[in-house]
Amino acid sequence: MNGKRILLVIGGGIAAYKSCELIRLIRKAGGGVTCVLTDGGAQFVTPMTLAALSEAEVYSSLWDLKNETEMGHIQLSREADLIVVCPATADLMAKMAAGIADDLATTLLLATDTQVMAVPAMNVRMWDHAATQRNVGQLRDDGVIVLDPDEGPMACGEFGEGRLPEPDAIFAEIEHWLASSTKDRAHPLAGKRVVITAGPTREPIDPVRYIANRSSGRQGYAIAGALARLGANVSLISGPVALETPRGVNRIDVETALEMEAAVDAALPADVAILVAAVADWRAEASPRKIKKGETGGPPDLNLIENPDILAGLSRSDKRPELLIGFAAETDKVVGHAKAKLDRKGCDWIIANDVSGDVMGGADNSVHIITEAGVESWEQMPKSDVARKLAERIADVLA
Ligand code: C5P
Repeated sequence: MNGKRILLVIGGGIAAYKSCELIRLIRKAGGGVTCVLTDGGAQFVTPMTLAALSEAEVYSSLWDLKNETEMGHIQLSREADLIVVCPATADLMAKMAAGIADDLATTLLLATDTQVMAVPAMNVRMWDHAATQRNVGQLRDDGVIVLDPDEGPMACGEFGEGRLPEPDAIFAEIEHWLASSTKDRAHPLAGKRVVITAGPTREPIDPVRYIANRSSGRQGYAIAGALARLGANVSLISGPVALETPRGVNRIDVETALEMEAAVDAALPADVAILVAAVADWRAEASPRKIKKGETGGPPDLNLIENPDILAGLSRSDKRPELLIGFAAETDKVVGHAKAKLDRKGCDWIIANDVSGDVMGGADNSVHIITEAGVESWEQMPKSDVARKLAERIADVLA
């Protein structure tokens, strides 16, 4: 840590006392610490304690920085190699996620482009609350490193997830981040090309009617965004969805399976292809004009034709990417069916999910990663977390 500087933002929670031990560990390893204490934090640790441990001035008010031009909030954060928010309370993370800047801590967190690491600590119910989980997801999407809290007995007498990790574990995370190279840290997928399909396809019956499915495209879009954040060059071939294009992603809109197949082909070569789209298995022999009720003497015969399997076709093509990932949406025997699909489709990984609940269109997903090596089951989490974890896994594999 020689010479590295940490700006430590201390939020208002009982775990604030552990930040004192963290300061000691950083100082012992040769690093410097500047503390910013929130009003809440000051209820649990005193500026005097922090000043003694850090051997530096402690800042707490936006209004009494001595000289705004020399030592303003911008300057404070600029001097740091890493900003650590510890403990990060539910309230502080909510403000960070919303971009609120109403005290020194939140103002400098909004005004900085230095990497921020948040170490949450709160009551288990606050941690599990949908609002906190949404804010944590937003912060991670914004590039903040949010450490997972520990599970165990809490100061409030309850038991569960939400405890601040031990100071030596937090210190290890800080050291690890400072040790990795700038390029590896921010953009491990720089220079890699990824093709992703997402959403449903829409197969016309006539000019006004079509066959489609309930896919919302959310999981595929989240994956596209997560990969772009890691520096990948992402082409997202999208069926009709009501979603915004993730930042930095090149989106190509299509309607039918045949259009999707052609767009995938045109986007190749790629290092990775992830086929998330719920492609219609069949298309109708579309009528060029609207079919009138009664004109066919009963329901019209749709004359369904099988669509090409884009994933299976890609795995056999000479343009096959190094890493080919398929999805399997199943309502029963999820893992069993997905394993069979891995072989049948010739891909490297199958991400299997149970769509018997409200996964299609919902915000959460619970997936199994099936590879040659076996099955890994992830707990249920927001689709944005599945996307981030998957993007990190892909970056690890390609490294
Ligand atoms: O066979 P099934 O539709 O369950 O396979 C799902 C996987 O195959 C997904 O990755 C999906 O995107 C892909 N797929 C495809 N072309 C099709 C059907 C499925 O690429 N026609």
